[in-house]
Amino acid sequence: MSFIQLDHITKSFSDAGKPAVDKLSLSIKEGEILSLLGPSGCGKTTTLRMIAGFENPSAGSIHIDDAVVVNENRVLPPEKRGIGMVFQDYALFPHMTIEKNIMFGLNKWKKRDKKKRAAEVLELVELEAYADRYPTELSGGQQQRVALARALAPKPHVVLMDEPFSNLDAGLREKMRFDVTNILRRANITAIIVTHDQKDAFAVSDRVVVMNEGVIQQIAAPKEMYRCPKNCFVAQFVGKTNLLTGQMDHDLKSIHTHIGKVSLPEESKQQLEKVTLSIRPEGCMLSEQGDYCGRVERVTYGGEYQELHVKLNDDSALTQAPMVIYAPVEQDVEIGTIVSFDIKPELVALVE
Ligand SMILES: Nc1ncnc2c1ncn2[C@@H]1O[C@H](COP(=O)(O)OP(=O)(O)OP(=O)(O)O)[C@@H](O)[C@H]1O
Ligand SMILES: [Mg+2]
Repeated sequence: MSFIQLDHITKSFSDAGKPAVDKLSLSIKEGEILSLLGPSGCGKTTTLRMIAGFENPSAGSIHIDDAVVVNENRVLPPEKRGIGMVFQDYALFPHMTIEKNIMFGLNKWKKRDKKKRAAEVLELVELEAYADRYPTELSGGQQQRVALARALAPKPHVVLMDEPFSNLDAGLREKMRFDVTNILRRANITAIIVTHDQKDAFAVSDRVVVMNEGVIQQIAAPKEMYRCPKNCFVAQFVGKTNLLTGQMDHDLKSIHTHIGKVSLPEESKQQLEKVTLSIRPEGCMLSEQGDYCGRVERVTYGGEYQELHVKLNDDSALTQAPMVIYAPVEQDVEIGTIVSFDIKPELVALVE
């Protein structure tokens, strides 16, 4: 059963032009961690703000725990929605201690209960020792955890987080992905996290919603999203890929493309003639006598792997983009050499 239900939510900021969010429908299960992933301006924050009640939809309805929070007849104010919000800049009060920051959202609670609850959530985020410090005396990651503790303090049903990791450097970001997920799981709370970073989305969520121009492109668990992107947009936005067009073979198990015949992971259910394929760079493996071969045009050292751009030999391929392939770093590859490679069918997908 769904805990949060969005039905055909639309938000237009002006009469002209495309809506910022366009007939978006989504259901989220209790305890689920879901992320909204998409490029800048695709409507992620607007969607989050409509759930929180800071923005009203132009059309559509939202239910939380079976209650209408907004539809054409009813708008529940933000403070009555049982939602905790963590803002991108954390929005901690600099002149208040960490404990006071957390107690701020508990203004209707008794003083003793406030202190007890602040201690509880500080323990949850492992910052018990920091209650009397001021926000400026904390690291970015610690401030982030305080912001989450403050959002959790009033015991909301749902936590919404807008770009929670964007202010953190790469190392801390990785740690915080892990910490935030742990805290949310321990609090057993339903959460929606907005991000434009695929790694954030994959690391923290049960399911990922990819959006573009106000429209949902695909909803899937991270692994499925990566292995079976639904369309070209998702295939390119979620990781790197090679997009190739081709003709379906009559066996429905392979595609004829300009690089040769490419096998699908399983028989296609659709009997389309012209199709588009997504082939992940790590699905192409250099091999002495591979099925495909081409000339190396570019080699980029990437640390864990090297990225090769390989132009296929076929004359008709001159107008085609080179294939992007990841090769092990210990392998010596020179620009201009001919390499051959195989393609792992598990990293091949038909896309719309
Ligand atoms: N208050 C507003 N008035 C007018 N237009 C707005 C308003 N808020 C957002 N928009 C527009 O709505 C669209 C979606 O904006 P939104 O902030 O939801 O994007 P986003 O996906 O969160 O992007 P980012 O990753 O850059 O934060 C954008 O085109 C934006 O310019
Ligand atoms: Mg935003």
